[in-house]
Amino acid sequence: MSAHPNEWLALESHQREFATQHMRELFAADPGRFERFSTQACGILLDFSKNRINDTTMQLLAALAESADIRGEAQRMFRGDRINTTEDRSVLHTALRLPADASLSVDGVDVVAQVHAVAEQTAAFTDRVRNGEWKGYSGKAIKHIVNIGIGGSDLGPLMVCEALKPWQQRDLNFHFVSNVDGTHISEVLKVIDIESTLFIVASKTFTTQETLTNAHTARQWFLDNGGNEDNIARHFVAVSTNSEAVSEFGIDTDNMFRFWDWVGGRYSLWSSIGLSIRLSIGNEQFDNLLAGAHEMDRHFIEEEYTQNLPVILALLGVWYGNFFGVRSHVIAPYDQYLHRFAAYLQQLDMESNGKAVQIDGSDCQVSSGPVIWGEPGTNGQHAFFQLLHQGTELITADFIVAAKSQNPRGRHQQMLLANCIAQTEALMRGKTLAEAEAELTAAKVDSGKIPVLARHKVFSGNRPTNTLIFEQLDPFTLGALIAMYEHKVFVQGKIWGLNSFDQWGVELGKALASNILAELESGSAGEHDASTIGLINYSLSANR
Ligand code: F6P
Repeated sequence: MSAHPNEWLALESHQREFATQHMRELFAADPGRFERFSTQACGILLDFSKNRINDTTMQLLAALAESADIRGEAQRMFRGDRINTTEDRSVLHTALRLPADASLSVDGVDVVAQVHAVAEQTAAFTDRVRNGEWKGYSGKAIKHIVNIGIGGSDLGPLMVCEALKPWQQRDLNFHFVSNVDGTHISEVLKVIDIESTLFIVASKTFTTQETLTNAHTARQWFLDNGGNEDNIARHFVAVSTNSEAVSEFGIDTDNMFRFWDWVGGRYSLWSSIGLSIRLSIGNEQFDNLLAGAHEMDRHFIEEEYTQNLPVILALLGVWYGNFFGVRSHVIAPYDQYLHRFAAYLQQLDMESNGKAVQIDGSDCQVSSGPVIWGEPGTNGQHAFFQLLHQGTELITADFIVAAKSQNPRGRHQQMLLANCIAQTEALMRGKTLAEAEAELTAAKVDSGKIPVLARHKVFSGNRPTNTLIFEQLDPFTLGALIAMYEHKVFVQGKIWGLNSFDQWGVELGKALASNILAELESGSAGEHDASTIGLINYSLSANR
């Protein structure tokens, strides 16, 4: 049972009403359903009318949010309480978006002043690189930026750089290296040139094995190809909280852009981890990205639950995850520029809420974070949408689309919009057996074949979707969209009683990998289970 037993029981009994209730009927009975179950903030319209809900559902879900004291919890986060209890840290990514004239004192320090001081340093560097004033060792301007980082030090910057390509300074080429697979950096090293490349080593801790290995490889490549130690400062900068490790690596701390332990890795694109974003779109547009996120922060903290975008999305996720047994949620951006959005949200959501222990150390008694996955539309339609429409599991989805294209071309945008909207209609309506039979009869299909064929053409429908639509995918809107998902994850974490800001689950694999690495390097397997030994031995003999 959840920590909110009364609200939970009320939702459980209410859910039974929906066992036989089809969304088709809900729409037929209520022409005002779209107006009642859609809301707008920060230029984003959320249509949540294609959900298995009625007014009572929203009231009961809002009561659950009330019982979990979502507003109070959010205020505690925003003001800098140490809500990340297992790491004894504040969680203050929202402070990274506060305007310069705001102030927020945490432990006697004005974090807004700190944030803006580093932002100014980062912005000044950005301008020098973008206008060609910052030169490589041979006097050439920078043409290639290589961000070396992983997880939050890669996914956010990469996703945003891709999403905001229309604002990219096109004479700069951006490369992102994350995987420890040597192929990743090798392919980048093939297309850059040593004299005009800037490496950004992005790592909060500056201890992450993949990032340090890639950074050392890049450094060695630089030294092997004409660069020398004195030139490193022109070509390597670091973004980190760990200045000791940065100077140990050989990067001058004058070329380090810092941030703070109260910025979680997956919440860090707003900090100097976003240096590659600044370099791509410029400081003014980066400020617009921050402004969009800040406006969403205000919406989240001020708006009532039933009109609050992140709260509504979170509560609907809880409704399906905990009362309909939904374990998988699709992100379907109908926007090619958002092709890394689902990958970014996977870390944000699954690293935050993929947990089975509550803040107080007790077991979580209800299902927590779902599997998040997705691909841009329309591609997904020709791959996995079959299962969304006719699979045995109920899977929910967010459809995300801009009304206006950044690249208007013939009928493309109308076709994109038509497909996006049609998918939500099809998932909601479905197709009955009678409709399928009538279609086959009208198509003059042999009547003997109709009974079996019609069964294959039935769509149960009643499959819930949210649609997020906005005018254009600009920096402000993207900032708001990302912040909306951050707060959705926060609300769900609070309802499930989790600490959404640690990530102990990635530690065991890291520790075991270093044991196995030592064994692979020494040439013999240590003590493991038979499978692990078998795989180590296979790898050893293939590399002999
Ligand atoms: O291993 C997971 C993780 O700690 C993520 O939370 C983080 O975003 C990523 O590794 C990278 O960490 P860092 O920025 O310290 O290199």
